[in-house]
Amino acid sequence: MEVPEAAPAAAAGVEAEGMSGGKGSWYVLEHTFIVLDKELIGGEFAPGNPHTEAMVGDVNIYMNDPDDMQLAEIEIMIAEHKSRGKGIGQEVILLMMAFAVEKYGIATFRAKISESNMASLKLFRKLGFKDASYSAVFKEVTLEVPADELQLRFPLTVGDW
Ligand SMILES: CC(C)(COP(=O)(O)OP(=O)(O)OC[C@H]1O[C@@H](n2cnc3c(N)ncnc32)[C@H](O)[C@@H]1OP(=O)(O)O)[C@@H](O)C(=O)NCCC(=O)NCCS
Repeated sequence: MEVPEAAPAAAAGVEAEGMSGGKGSWYVLEHTFIVLDKELIGGEFAPGNPHTEAMVGDVNIYMNDPDDMQLAEIEIMIAEHKSRGKGIGQEVILLMMAFAVEKYGIATFRAKISESNMASLKLFRKLGFKDASYSAVFKEVTLEVPADELQLRFPLTVGDW
């Protein structure tokens, strides 16, 4: 997988697999990208090299609604604090959503975020997600956006999968 030249981040280490949802029930399809901080890559970027020195987080989608497999829940984690605030979170969410539209035909994205997580709420709202519901029990906001309202770049520039 090639690292986009101008980008501060790269996504690599792709896995897609079905998981049983229980006895005789449905399968959850999920897909993960491991996030690399380009500034932390030691030496030249080499496709196929996991570049563990630069792993800073992950971004995941879950197609976990048996009534709507064109709906994907998305999660993002930039675990390394020194890699936050550099635009990486925003970039990899957009990359994952473009990938999900192209590979899985996703029509709607959903994110569930704690009401106290202002950074994430601001990030997803900035990208066009709108509040869809609120759980007082979990103190969590559910946000959604139709894929056709997103500014996604095609074709993707990170290679084939
Ligand atoms: C939330 C998180 C993904 C942001 O990643 P990041 O790479 O630091 O964010 P970016 O640099 O791409 O910022 C993009 C936008 O997010 C918002 N944002 C990010 N960090 C913020 C902060 N500390 N405070 C307020 N807004 C913030 C801003 O709108 C920002 O855009 P702007 O710079 O134009 O204002 C990261 O802090 C994280 O992993 N947090 C813990 C896990 C989590 O909360 N995941 C979300 C649940 S799905």
